[in-house]
Amino acid sequence: MQIRFADSRPTGDYALVLPVAGKDRSSLGSLGAAQKAVAGALDRQRFEGDASTASEQFVDDNGTLRRLIVVGTGGCTAPKDAAEKLGGTAVARLLTSGEKKAVIDVSGLGYDADAAARLGLAAALRSWRYDRYRTKLKDNQKPTLAEIVIVGGGKEAGDRYAKRWAPVYEGVSLTRELVTEPANIIYPESFVERVKKSLDGSGVEIDVLDRKAMEKLGMGALLGVAQGSIREARLLILRWNGGGKGGQPVAFVGKGVTFDTGGISIKPAAGMEAMKWDMGGAGAVVGAMKAIALRKAKANAVGICGLVENMPDGNAQRPGDVVTTMSGQTVEVINTDAEGRLVLADAVTYVQRTYKPSTIIDLATLTGAILISLGHEWAGLFSNNEELAGELIKLGQDSGDKLWRMPLAEPFDRLIDSPIADMKNVGPREGGSITAAQFIQRFVENGVRWAHIDMAGMAWSDKQSATYDKGATGFGVRLLDEYVSEVLES
Ligand code: BES
Ligand code: MN
Ligand code: ZN
Repeated sequence: MQIRFADSRPTGDYALVLPVAGKDRSSLGSLGAAQKAVAGALDRQRFEGDASTASEQFVDDNGTLRRLIVVGTGGCTAPKDAAEKLGGTAVARLLTSGEKKAVIDVSGLGYDADAAARLGLAAALRSWRYDRYRTKLKDNQKPTLAEIVIVGGGKEAGDRYAKRWAPVYEGVSLTRELVTEPANIIYPESFVERVKKSLDGSGVEIDVLDRKAMEKLGMGALLGVAQGSIREARLLILRWNGGGKGGQPVAFVGKGVTFDTGGISIKPAAGMEAMKWDMGGAGAVVGAMKAIALRKAKANAVGICGLVENMPDGNAQRPGDVVTTMSGQTVEVINTDAEGRLVLADAVTYVQRTYKPSTIIDLATLTGAILISLGHEWAGLFSNNEELAGELIKLGQDSGDKLWRMPLAEPFDRLIDSPIADMKNVGPREGGSITAAQFIQRFVENGVRWAHIDMAGMAWSDKQSATYDKGATGFGVRLLDEYVSEVLES
């Protein structure tokens, strides 16, 4: 999708999009003679101008028949919120409509450059789709919309979009692509290859550890998960040094289980195909690294992805096995389906030993229990630091990647003590997301600010929203990008 910005409406063929804030229809004034008929039609359609609703009509625009989409923005308090809903709603309506070009006119609404640019971001995000495996789409199911012109955002809007939000679109796209691809296509090695290709020329430094290298480092927990699969594990390390030498980096750590069968503690058949997106945390980390690199963020960040496939096999680890982690701590693997925390344990130790980060934020589709707590609206946030938790909650609201704080406490920690090893990898069913977080916390070293985001309910959506269709959401990219922008760069 091409996103452009202009001072006034162009001539020629296009669909026109006009926002209407609730009952206030002053923005329709620019329709001239057609205004009265349009307003009448809106009444007859019982159009109230609520956010994310739309009315479609055809009007005579000085002699040309033009498709008009009136989009409601009522109830939105911030212009940037209204802008994103407007852009997304308009594109959802027009993407396969037959129209090739749309003009979204926000003149007179007082949008600043950033709000207009975010409109462009939402429009681009909502247009994202992955048709690689659809060979039989009918012509009228194929996207037609290729260009969006945003009018009325002022002189700086185009620049703001290019510098701040187009990179975020690129990052989210990469994440969605990785999450969408099935597990026969994306496995640890091919994940690395796909990311390398995508980040080529971005200035991100890439290192990859293979099984031998991880064996040397003693990553028994991560490798234990991988040992039942013919796909070899990888640790992918991405570094962006835009903040100059010496500054302690922030570390983003992602769970990258490219498929989670549960291993020997195998999952039920129904719905197991969803476990192709059990690498959504790792996907978010690489998408965020791409975004901050493309916009040349003045900050230092390292992204670590623990990539494994969790399979049952003659060589798979068994319930009851004891593994030794890179930290030296031992783990009794009670349930091979609680594999994400095993992967994260070694990834978290590795990043602390190697890069001495001041702050670690890990993202993982870690527990089904977080879905029971928070459904598909909020991801769970766990943190050992009040300031970091506060920052992230606020950035979650700003970015749309919403977070809800969950508790950590010693009584929960006790629930993962093991009679034979230092800890076991599961606690009781109750509080399952919390004991999973407590497990990871046992690998966080003294003085490191740490946050864990359990995004099991957020990586994939069965319903569309302003910025995504059904499917991969790209959750986490905007959150991490905002962390870099708002906490590290300002
Ligand atoms: N990847 C799953 C968590 C998950 C479940 C994500 C549903 C998305 C939707 C994770 O590896 C897992 O299997 N967790 C177990 C832990 C249990 C064995 C303690 C779970 O949540 O059931
Ligand atoms: Mn699992
Ligand atoms: Zn998993």
